[in-house]
Amino acid sequence: MGFPRKRHVWIVLTAITLVFCVILIFDGQAHWRLNSNMHLDDTDLSEGYGFRKLLEDPLARIERLRSEGMEQRLPQCIIIGVRKCGTRALLEFLDLHPKIRIADMEMHFFNKDENYEKGYEWYTKYMPFSLNTDITIEKTPRYFISENAPERIQKMNHSIKLIVIFRNPTTRVISDYAQVYQNKVERNYSVERLEDIVISKRTGRVNTGYKAVRISMYYYHLTHWLQYFNRDQIHVVNGDNLIVNPLEEIHEVETFLGLNHHVTETNVYFNETRGFFCMNSVDKQHCLGATKGRKHPNIDSKIVKKLKNFYRPYNRKLFAMIGKEFDWD
Ligand SMILES: *[C@@H]1O[C@H](CO)[C@@H](O)[C@H](O)[C@H]1NC(C)=O
Ligand SMILES: *[C@@H]1O[C@H](CO)[C@@H](O)[C@H](O)[C@H]1NC(C)=O
Ligand SMILES: *[C@@H]1O[C@H](CO)[C@@H](O)[C@H](O)[C@H]1NC(C)=O
Repeated sequence: MGFPRKRHVWIVLTAITLVFCVILIFDGQAHWRLNSNMHLDDTDLSEGYGFRKLLEDPLARIERLRSEGMEQRLPQCIIIGVRKCGTRALLEFLDLHPKIRIADMEMHFFNKDENYEKGYEWYTKYMPFSLNTDITIEKTPRYFISENAPERIQKMNHSIKLIVIFRNPTTRVISDYAQVYQNKVERNYSVERLEDIVISKRTGRVNTGYKAVRISMYYYHLTHWLQYFNRDQIHVVNGDNLIVNPLEEIHEVETFLGLNHHVTETNVYFNETRGFFCMNSVDKQHCLGATKGRKHPNIDSKIVKKLKNFYRPYNRKLFAMIGKEFDWD
């Protein structure tokens, strides 16, 4: 008599346990997805990212942050570009400042219609928690060349602060090519030599149909931004100098953002092995990811010269526009 009833109990207990397991697995996946949903178009995250977040239960963390007066807010500053000019490095350096809160992901909110249509509420959910005295920064390098981004950003906050980082346009083309080249090689796609893409076979001139060439025509893109923003709202960072003298560039950004100079020699050090500056702080010690500082392929010096000549007039106009000159020859 008693035996079948016991079996009944076991079946019920097993079923309950199974249901719990399923709930836990799905819940875990949801959290994981939340943290790993970092789709990056232009760059990858540095190693070690997101780990800290996984240690604490996300809901408990949010409750704790709220109790400390923190909220997720729309960014007061956006790094708008340029791809392959050191935007990730810049963001990571700025993250050393206690009053700066960075969005981990490149949001592609203002350039991609399907994201923009989700609205500010969606966008804000991906912003870091911050105090109202902090500055939230998002960066998406694609904004710089986007048709819609300037107008949409202006609509969100017409007094927002923008940061753009430039490198020598020729170096940028080669770096852009090197990244795409490596991605293609890894996927076994056929690859063209830079020489064959960058110069039009028909005319022998620089091929402006090649996207990497167009992105480096900074003057052209910045003109579009200045139709929506005042010059003093846009801070220009020298990406070539950021590599050799990061503190100089970071100090200028701190001033631009109205912040005290917090990032100092103690926060950065030069790693001889990597030939790069790395960052140092209480909860953070890391260098840029392995894909950063990729070695550039050797390019025929005649091609480099052609590119430099091509960009010279655009550069001159750019320097006049921003009131700053770089040594790009
Ligand atoms: C717009 O941006 C400026 C400059 O960062 C900031 O001071 C201001 O609070 C922002 N406005 C809103 C509504 O976020
Ligand atoms: C690329 O080709 C190599 C050699 O043919 C092969 O071992 C590898 O699996 C391929 N990779 C991809 C992503 O198809
Ligand atoms: C420099 O970078 C290398 C390679 O990433 C790393 O193994 C080494 O520990 C770093 N050195 C210092 C002093 O951090």
